[in-house]
Amino acid sequence: MNETFSVIHNRRSTRKYADTPITAEEKDAILNATMRAPTAGNMMLYTIIEVEDQSLKDRLAVSCDNQPFIASAPYVLLFLADYQRWVDAFDWSGAPQTCVEQGLLPRLPQEGDMMLACCDALIAAQTAVIAAESMGIGSCYIGDILENCDEHRTMFNLPRYTFPITLVCFGRPYATREHPRLIKRFDRRFVVHRDRYTQIETNEFPAMLEHAAQQFPNLQPGEAAMKAVQGIYTRKFVSDFSVEMTRSVKQWMAIWNGDQE
Ligand SMILES: Cc1cc2nc3c(=O)[nH]c(=O)nc-3n(C[C@H](O)[C@H](O)[C@H](O)COP(=O)(O)O)c2cc1C
Repeated sequence: MNETFSVIHNRRSTRKYADTPITAEEKDAILNATMRAPTAGNMMLYTIIEVEDQSLKDRLAVSCDNQPFIASAPYVLLFLADYQRWVDAFDWSGAPQTCVEQGLLPRLPQEGDMMLACCDALIAAQTAVIAAESMGIGSCYIGDILENCDEHRTMFNLPRYTFPITLVCFGRPYATREHPRLIKRFDRRFVVHRDRYTQIETNEFPAMLEHAAQQFPNLQPGEAAMKAVQGIYTRKFVSDFSVEMTRSVKQWMAIWNGDQE
């Protein structure tokens, strides 16, 4: 296993941080590596906001579904899908008028553009995660940044064609880790298909969920797997945060589409 594989295989989310600050050189190294991430059409459809102000971190710790560790993270990066920069450059260059003169239909960013910009921003984020990890700096994604559109929009002064797709907390791991071991994944055969999609047979679910079912050692494997799935459904899928996430993302899409200010 080369060093890159070793970094990838040993990474795990870090939510408890040592007091050691992240130095300016380390921040530079993370950001410079991030800027080399692949990007659709080399358009760099993302913006990164370094969240340095403690009062903003404190607010995020509440607005992102009450996760206090966000406030204690030595370094926090907000990744935005960003078409605003290009919309402004299009206007500045007179591109929409040129397009009309050529008999083409001008347009504004829509859902497809938003998704492509999200791809760019997420690829940049994961590049930052791996770069940091290679220097012994742990990280944790915060998906709940998708919630509370109005609040996050105001907090970070976000214009129409941006979308906060993810937040990442960085810091050196505290001496004792939250999880003593790496968290297990599904077996590869459930995730990697060949040539076509194959829906998983229901009788395969106990095998797929073997690791999750281990939290119910007194139950039969099938029953334990069902109980694990029921837990995900109630704790994650139908929970208030998931409902709020969908409401907030719909609001962002309405803002991009001009259906809402
Ligand atoms: C899109 C995304 C959103 C996530 N959001 C959160 C979050 O809000 N809070 C948190 O503690 N962990 C969050 N995580 C981290 C996952 O819980 C973690 O990656 C998963 O449990 C597997 O653990 P590991 O990264 O240690 O292997 C998120 C991860 C991803 C990829």
